[in-house]
Amino acid sequence: MSEDTVSASIPTDQLISLLLSLPDEAKKIINESDAPYDELKTIILGKESEFTKLSQSMRFVPKEDKQQVGIVLNQVKKSIETLLSEKAKTAHTSNEEWIDVTAPGVRPPVGHIHIVTQAINEITEIFNKLGFTRVRHPEVDWDYYAFEALNMPKNHPARDEWETFFIEYPGKPNPKEEKYQKLVLTPHTSNGQIHEMEKGILPIRTINIAKCYRRQIDVSHTPMFHQFEGMYIDKHVSIGHLKGVLDYFAKAFFGKDRITRIRPFHFQFTEPSFEVDITCGVCNGTGIVKNKEKCRLCKDGWLELGGAGMIHPNVLKASNIDTTMYNGFAFGFGIERSYMMKSGTQLDDIRLIYSNDIRFLKQF
Ligand code: DAH
Repeated sequence: MSEDTVSASIPTDQLISLLLSLPDEAKKIINESDAPYDELKTIILGKESEFTKLSQSMRFVPKEDKQQVGIVLNQVKKSIETLLSEKAKTAHTSNEEWIDVTAPGVRPPVGHIHIVTQAINEITEIFNKLGFTRVRHPEVDWDYYAFEALNMPKNHPARDEWETFFIEYPGKPNPKEEKYQKLVLTPHTSNGQIHEMEKGILPIRTINIAKCYRRQIDVSHTPMFHQFEGMYIDKHVSIGHLKGVLDYFAKAFFGKDRITRIRPFHFQFTEPSFEVDITCGVCNGTGIVKNKEKCRLCKDGWLELGGAGMIHPNVLKASNIDTTMYNGFAFGFGIERSYMMKSGTQLDDIRLIYSNDIRFLKQF
């Protein structure tokens, strides 16, 4: 109905028939609309409603018809209110909470442990099977444990390879106590070797997993990363034992087709020392991919995993281990690096792991 009809006088008959059509119209609105109860009420009986507009034209109704129109108006209002109150029994109001128990549930977002923690758990489990116990050692440690006891005396050039963060010691180091002079954020997990040996319990078969810190950042380095360091000290330990452990780990962690090789290298704390490589997962150790192209991920089929060796007698002696009876091996690898080399993982930038981007982390 237009504004004109409201303001102008309407013949009584027409007004009555318009009023009588309102309950049907209201029924239609109620049935077809999704609006909550109180919104429906405003649409049907509110200030702007057809009902209100028609009832305002009451003042133009001739005196003699007023009673009749009044009765109709009341009846119409009553029947609309009945319709609305029926709706109210089943409907909800906009400011009232309601639950549609039949609606499909909304799944809350479920997180998962970070990929580095996943790798740590997996690595721990693999070494547990070989009898290696997971141990923890300080991640802020004395220079003595990070370097000196590992056969790297003060000012030794080999120290340069570990881009170390030195940190302020809050108290005064005791000048007489040689071990406790300078503090470092551990640049590798090899400090754990010394702490473990100092316990004085032999044999030792441990896996130390910890955070490491170095002043480096690029596609293959982050200033904070993780290493896992295996150590085995017993009577008659051989390079063969080391190789066996490395191969077991490579197959369990990277996949059963992968093998390792050891190459001569130099570390101050092992003699002999090796660098450990693993066959590349992309070209299967051949260095060649489809179409006879060179594999872009590796060098001739091999990827570098980390360092290893037979523990240097000087390191054992520094921790009072009788080198005439005991010897051992150790190895240290990066967790993030190893994870990136795992079969099927095509990560080409280590920094992504710590970018805190949920879209990246969700994939794993
Ligand atoms: N600590 C060495 C590094 O961070 C890795 C390493 C090499 C650990 C040889 C060892 C080892 O236990 O025997 O580069």
